[in-house]
Amino acid sequence: MIDQTLKLPCGAIIKNRIAKSAMSENMADAGNRPGHKFVNLYDRWSKGGTGLIITGNVMMSSKALGEPHNVVVEEGHECLEGLKEWAKAGTQNGAHLWMQINHPGKQSPKFLSPEPMAPSAIGYESYMKNMFNTPRALTAQEITKTIKGYAYAAKVAKKAGFTGVQIHGAHGYLVSQFLSPLHNQRTDQWGGSLENRMRFVVEIYKTMRSELGNDFPIGIKLNSADFQKGGFSEEESMIVVKTLGDLGMDLIEISGGTYEATAMMDGTKKKDSTKKREAYFLDYCEKVRKLIDTPLLLTGGFRSRDGMDEALQSGACEMIGLARSIAIDPDFPNKLIAGQDVKSQVKPLSSGSKAMDKMIPLEIVWYTEQIHRMGKGKDPKPNASVKMSVLRTMMSLGSAMLKRTRA
Ligand SMILES: Cc1cc2nc3c(=O)[nH]c(=O)nc-3n(C[C@H](O)[C@H](O)[C@H](O)COP(=O)(O)O)c2cc1C
Repeated sequence: MIDQTLKLPCGAIIKNRIAKSAMSENMADAGNRPGHKFVNLYDRWSKGGTGLIITGNVMMSSKALGEPHNVVVEEGHECLEGLKEWAKAGTQNGAHLWMQINHPGKQSPKFLSPEPMAPSAIGYESYMKNMFNTPRALTAQEITKTIKGYAYAAKVAKKAGFTGVQIHGAHGYLVSQFLSPLHNQRTDQWGGSLENRMRFVVEIYKTMRSELGNDFPIGIKLNSADFQKGGFSEEESMIVVKTLGDLGMDLIEISGGTYEATAMMDGTKKKDSTKKREAYFLDYCEKVRKLIDTPLLLTGGFRSRDGMDEALQSGACEMIGLARSIAIDPDFPNKLIAGQDVKSQVKPLSSGSKAMDKMIPLEIVWYTEQIHRMGKGKDPKPNASVKMSVLRTMMSLGSAMLKRTRA
């Protein structure tokens, strides 16, 4: 089953049922361009046997970064040569390579965005307040321009040789902020009812489709829910999935949570009935499957061949998304396809200090280092010290902050 091909609504064929889910590389040069490190990394991943490789989030505006070393694609900053090299490395061995396109909205750290933009001028509560400034609300004109920016980045991706694109609509970034009744309290056509809140993502999809044509894959990563009281709920998410599926979306990736409630990484909100199952959002996929025929890619928690087979055989999803497993073992998909009885080595991380574990997004920090090792042409190091990784990241973040403050 895992080795079967998959035909998408646009006609494109994916060689097997394994996708590498997006992991931000945070590895671009000082001008936010991709370089040889991306070639090294994607060479590993394409040779690792994955059918579909989704890049880490590429930002569609240099004024809105999630991390200092995100790749940016916008008008006047196309980085076409670097993108072509990246696309060539990532499409070897018959792999599809899709660019994930993102705008962080207010989820852009203080040292990168003194005044971030979001649907509404609503700041974060709790510990998030220390990391992110209160945003200002986007004007209607800026919303239209931003929609065009997503489509422009997608057009450049196609020109560079990427074989598809994915809209990042999950994890609390701009699309997800528009969908959330907590973060979007606009009173114009972009806020209020669910129909209005989803207008932003619907318009992004339609603009992309008209730019890219009917035979080019367009996907989206969406939250099954934000896992926040009063936030984007499972019921609303299903309506959005159905709407986008009916419009012709080629592949819908299911995840969940935001920086405020990190269900995408730990599935903490898994109900008791689903705890036995590896995948965090399998229950949700089973419900959505009854509503649409659009292929579903389920991501989060998969560790074993049995867990993957169970999800595919149940018919709840057509593809399995893997992130951390492939960051520490780029050949994991080859082993799965070959029928080896392998289990991912992903395990809970701790720096040894509870205070530090609370302060730092350990999963991001530690796995990013694994990705950076491959970018330098080295092997990942699954036994690397978490504490050292945190210290190194704090030091490099400190110098990045200093540089930005001086600039
Ligand atoms: C280092 C790192 C970076 C990530 N960056 C992104 C990203 O850019 N876009 C995205 O949609 N998800 C991102 N994710 C989330 C993963 O795609 C995935 O949803 C999550 O890790 C759960 O899958 P897993 O259990 O197979 O790791 C990131 C995860 C990690 C560990």
